[in-house]
Amino acid sequence: MRVALIGPGRVGTLLAIAGTRAGWRVAAVAGGREASRSALAASIAGLRTFDDPAEAVAGADLVLVTVPDDAIASVVDGLVRADALTPSHRVVHVAGSRGLDALRRARLAGAQVAACHPAMTIPAGASDPDLLVGVAWAVTAGPTDRAWASELVVALGGDPFHLADDARVTYHAALALASNAVGAAVVAARRLLLAARVADPAAFLAPLAHASVDNAASTGAAALTGPIVRGDVGTIAAHLERLAADLPELLPVYRALAQATLEPVRPSLGPEVVAALDDLLAGDDRGAGTALEG
Ligand SMILES: NC(=O)c1ccc[n+]([C@@H]2O[C@H](COP(=O)([O-])OP(=O)(O)OC[C@H]3O[C@@H](n4cnc5c(N)ncnc54)[C@H](OP(=O)(O)O)[C@@H]3O)[C@@H](O)[C@H]2O)c1
Repeated sequence: MRVALIGPGRVGTLLAIAGTRAGWRVAAVAGGREASRSALAASIAGLRTFDDPAEAVAGADLVLVTVPDDAIASVVDGLVRADALTPSHRVVHVAGSRGLDALRRARLAGAQVAACHPAMTIPAGASDPDLLVGVAWAVTAGPTDRAWASELVVALGGDPFHLADDARVTYHAALALASNAVGAAVVAARRLLLAARVADPAAFLAPLAHASVDNAASTGAAALTGPIVRGDVGTIAAHLERLAADLPELLPVYRALAQATLEPVRPSLGPEVVAALDDLLAGDDRGAGTALEG
């Protein structure tokens, strides 16, 4: 399979490397800065760089559009305006938040289209194709395109799951919470551990966070533990008081995550405990001292 890639960034680079290992001929790259294209060309034998995406897709079977979400439709639009897409092209974007609408003009031009999102965080510089092995992909495609789109995912070592077009934004909001928000919570926790003069925060954070994520991912709210779930109002008040004194900029994130913890366990706590927690987490810093004193 001959592949043209538009957008040699984090995902584009990894897909080019993984596709090459899968036996694809990644032949052309366009989009982005010249330096990004050249860096990718240096790691894939026979890969040619193009300033014009329309030239890059000529002769390709598969066009991978790996540009930022907001740029997908305009990249596709540019290809269609240049009359560069034909029914022999398969055009795929990898944005979780976007569906087939971003590829609508390619489909109208006769191309086969699919949205295929790997549910994995791919950092800058990622070049190990094993990062994609065993990864779940959300595949959105019309009935005639589902088979080839799924085969493409399998070729990269992934597991394809069909996702309805109108569910992609909800799906992506969930993944943003599971990835970006969990990461942000761990970053905040790391700062607190450093403030507690813990020399190696990772030793405490990594096993704990992994276990929490694994438990919550499989059993949901039943896996939640800690002072909110136990109704330990005094402990929460102490946390808030210490944060207010040492790292007040972390109070909003602590409160928001504590409220998210409280929400599903509310029915299992007594009304007085719930009212006390609601007061504390509402953001009135005087409440921390009051609850402690009480
Ligand atoms: N990273 C992840 O964890 C991840 C995971 C799953 C899916 N995705 C999806 O993968 C896609 C790419 O994300 P990414 O993280 O790889 O982003 P990225 O690293 O910023 O790469 C985007 C690439 O597109 C180029 N580009 C930017 N605007 C463009 C435009 N208007 N026309 C053509 N090329 C343009 C960039 O150029 P420069 O090289 O000049 O910057 C860069 O090469 C997104 O749809 C994202 O939602 C990302």
